[in-house]
Amino acid sequence: MRKKHINEIFPKKRVVITGGGSGLGRQLALDFGKMGWRVAICDLNEEAAHKTVDLINGAGGNGFFHICDVSKWDQMLDFSNLVKERFGGVDVVINNAGVIVAGFVEDVDVEDWNWILSINLMGVVHGCKAFIPILKSQKKGYIVNIASSAGIVSLAEMAQYNVTKAGVISLLETLKMELSPFNIGISCVCPTFFKTNLMQGARWGNERQRKLAQKMFDKSLATVEDVSRDIIKSIEKNKLYVITQWDGKILWFFKRLSPLLFYKFMSVYYKKILNRL
Ligand SMILES: NC(=O)c1ccc[n+]([C@@H]2O[C@H](COP(=O)([O-])OP(=O)(O)OC[C@H]3O[C@@H](n4cnc5c(N)ncnc54)[C@H](O)[C@@H]3O)[C@@H](O)[C@H]2O)c1
Repeated sequence: MRKKHINEIFPKKRVVITGGGSGLGRQLALDFGKMGWRVAICDLNEEAAHKTVDLINGAGGNGFFHICDVSKWDQMLDFSNLVKERFGGVDVVINNAGVIVAGFVEDVDVEDWNWILSINLMGVVHGCKAFIPILKSQKKGYIVNIASSAGIVSLAEMAQYNVTKAGVISLLETLKMELSPFNIGISCVCPTFFKTNLMQGARWGNERQRKLAQKMFDKSLATVEDVSRDIIKSIEKNKLYVITQWDGKILWFFKRLSPLLFYKFMSVYYKKILNRL
């Protein structure tokens, strides 16, 4: 059977994207704009959000932004009410806003733990909680949450980020079941590194960790355009797990094959790296 284009699946073409002022959120907004969608973005950064809306409108879409901190429930609720008022509903909701905190579990301040949990995990909970009633009332829609490969394969010295992304994956697996009677599709996106502005606001336990992460971002081959394209395709295919890059696919394969052996190997490998430093 011929695969339907996303515009055929959702002819009303209305999308919401959190964290649309930069990186992946901005690219998704632009790509939906190019397909003629109405795009509502939210972000903390007004200037960046404004720029994204200009890009959407310049590409043939119709965008607006709302300043909203995803970690604040009342602000997310205001955003969802505004979207309902302006669009009369919504077809695709993309919970994308996120930050990085990383470091040894015992070193990272509780305040930083709370900060990342409130944005990466509670921000996604807020986005789902605010928009699900709209999708349910339509008996149609789609939710995409941007998790990370770190949510399926925990890496050392990144517990704070790993935990939030694993939580997002668990939330989506639950929603896959709960929302299936309402014709609402789900995608959980798990990229590895790709270049964006994510490093700018990141909080690190120490300078070695920051430098290592910067190296990973600099070395990454995938672009934000590649990841955005994969996400739109995953909506067309109603694909639950979206592992966007080959390194993520390999790690996921071996973790699923034997989690015990996988973490034995990773522990030996980690010890070796530490001894070399
Ligand atoms: N870049 C990567 O390598 C990578 C890999 C895996 C997953 N991800 C995930 O992709 C998503 C997008 O990140 P990105 O790489 O495009 O980073 P980015 O920093 O370029 O964009 C993130 C956007 O979210 C906004 N934001 C941050 N906190 C917010 C809040 N409390 N409320 C509203 N908006 C907020 C920022 O202002 C920014 O515009 C994140 O969830 C991130 O964890 C990124």
